[in-house]
Amino acid sequence: MTSKGHFITFEGIDGSGKSTQARMLADHLRAQGHDVILTREPGGSPGAEEIRALVLQGDPDRWSAETELLLFTAARRDHMERLIQPAIDKGQIVICDRFADSTRMYQGLSRGDLRAKVDTLHTLMIGREPDLTLLIDMDPATGLARAKGRQGTEERFEDFGTELQEKMRAGFLSLASEFAHRFQTLDGARDMDAVAHDVRRVVARHLSSSG
Ligand code: ADP
Ligand code: TYD
Repeated sequence: MTSKGHFITFEGIDGSGKSTQARMLADHLRAQGHDVILTREPGGSPGAEEIRALVLQGDPDRWSAETELLLFTAARRDHMERLIQPAIDKGQIVICDRFADSTRMYQGLSRGDLRAKVDTLHTLMIGREPDLTLLIDMDPATGLARAKGRQGTEERFEDFGTELQEKMRAGFLSLASEFAHRFQTLDGARDMDAVAHDVRRVVARHLSSSG
């Protein structure tokens, strides 16, 4: 199927500023007259938001990595069917805070090597990658301090601590090389307007090159 719209994702460790940048980009593009859907994972559709509560709340050992992979993929399938694909088909710009690259990292890498299973399930059940992925790279200690500052009940992954975030940071940088055609890595350890400026530049270039 040819896609008319654009599918842009933000990735990075917890607290790197993805939600902030996704929101700022959505506001900027809307102000320019674009039709934008801002969404997030896990979640983004009513069913997927219910799964979000299951995966993000409770004890860190609540699920095995395999069960978690199935839950995140189920949530993504619902999100894709009900929100993302219809919006792309209508020609909208979909901005999503995290997507399958987060599963490649958090379920694929964090507790043993499940990357092959993550990719197989993705091919079978999702079958689409973003057109552009913005990786907000930064030092995990700063990211974790920012994320902890938010407070809340969705802390299962944040409870894994700085060591896991270090592994995730390295993993995301290596994903950016693996999928170099769609990844752009930005330095997130700056004030939000400086990061937003880079995000806009990269997205403008993408939109003008892909029509
Ligand atoms: P993420 O979605 O990657 O977890 P958020 O956008 O929720 O990150 O940001 C985490 C916290 O850090 C929020 O309180 C946000 O206001 C703050 N924040 C975001 N970007 C910056 C920045 N560039 N500098 C300082 N604080 C930031
Ligand atoms: P999110 O709400 O984006 O957290 P944050 O704003 O702190 O970055 O995502 C919550 C957690 O879910 C995050 O720690 C990463 C995890 N996650 C996975 O483990 N697998 C996935 O496929 C996705 C989308 C998120």
